[in-house]
Amino acid sequence: SDQPLVLGIETSCDETGVGIVRGETLLVDAVASSVDDHARFGGVVPEVASRAHLEEMVPTIERACREAGVALKDLDAISVTSGPGLAGSLMVGVASAKALALSLGIPLYGVNHLASHVAVDIVEHGPLPEPTLALLVSGGHSSLLLVPDVTNDIRSLGSTIDDAAGEAFDKVARVLGLPFPGGPHIDREARGGQVTIDFPRGLTTGRDMERHRFDFSFSGLKTSVSRWVQAREAAGEPVPVADVAASFQEAVVDVLTRKAVLACKEHGAQHLQIGGGVAANSRLREMAQSRCDAAGIELRVPRPGLCTDNGAMVAALGTQMVLKGREASRLDLPADSSMPV
Ligand code: KG4
Ligand code: ZN
Repeated sequence: SDQPLVLGIETSCDETGVGIVRGETLLVDAVASSVDDHARFGGVVPEVASRAHLEEMVPTIERACREAGVALKDLDAISVTSGPGLAGSLMVGVASAKALALSLGIPLYGVNHLASHVAVDIVEHGPLPEPTLALLVSGGHSSLLLVPDVTNDIRSLGSTIDDAAGEAFDKVARVLGLPFPGGPHIDREARGGQVTIDFPRGLTTGRDMERHRFDFSFSGLKTSVSRWVQAREAAGEPVPVADVAASFQEAVVDVLTRKAVLACKEHGAQHLQIGGGVAANSRLREMAQSRCDAAGIELRVPRPGLCTDNGAMVAALGTQMVLKGREASRLDLPADSSMPV
């Protein structure tokens, strides 16, 4: 095949991800997660994550190659997440990628984590229409991105001014006594509940909306949910967990989809792509689909395993860098924990 064969490494948070892509075809997506090691702390502990990457990195590379039936010597390029993310975690991936590129004598591409979340959709649904509007919602990010070219031109239209969407799910889950990470638990609880409480939609009206048209705010919502639950408990009444979960989820999903569709309309994007861990949310998928249908916008959401952090997304973006002839990174490539998109 004359399509490039690219191995991508992702270690920005708590997943050690190794993906191998040939052209637009995903050959393998191997992930080792340290999420269970963090659960008892109620959040990701950076040093625990770095140490887990150090242990899992080489075995995950070996497993990916074995499952794809690929020998390292056949690779055309290595790509790696160089930021943003946890510094110590990024360094494990970047150092490993440099060693591989150096020993194999092939180019290294340091790529942006947010851009990779968008690029992964290429191996799922084919070439990205230009421009695509991307809604990236995870434990660390909530951003609306206008993407004329995923390899070198992404514009942030807005992002959260406080908590990320996934962070809000995790915090509210804790208030409701659900385990970490809370997003999937809220999703499941909500299916058995009703939207009975009208929780606030941050930055959607009046001057807030004018100033923060495509920004998000979820910390007021989280506070409002926790006050509501505390008032119930103080009154000695049972907390209707499923209804609170459904009402909270509805508020988050309403704001995300409303602003995403508005951004598509105002920026002439006919395609909306949603990525990040929160894209696994069933209500988000449902509401995004119906609002996109109403607005004549094509919705693209990769399968859940490609929405959460993984190596395939890094390989997918690395492949685009190769195909578009972008310059490779130098081997003194730094890890940049606060890299802008
Ligand atoms: O992208 P991701 O795996 O890691 C990063 O944060 O980069 O996203 C994890 C986040 C967590 O906050 C988790 O609670 C949330 O995604 N999440 C969900 C669902 N599945 C995962 N949130 C809502 N509904 C879900 N079904
Ligand atoms: Zn991510």
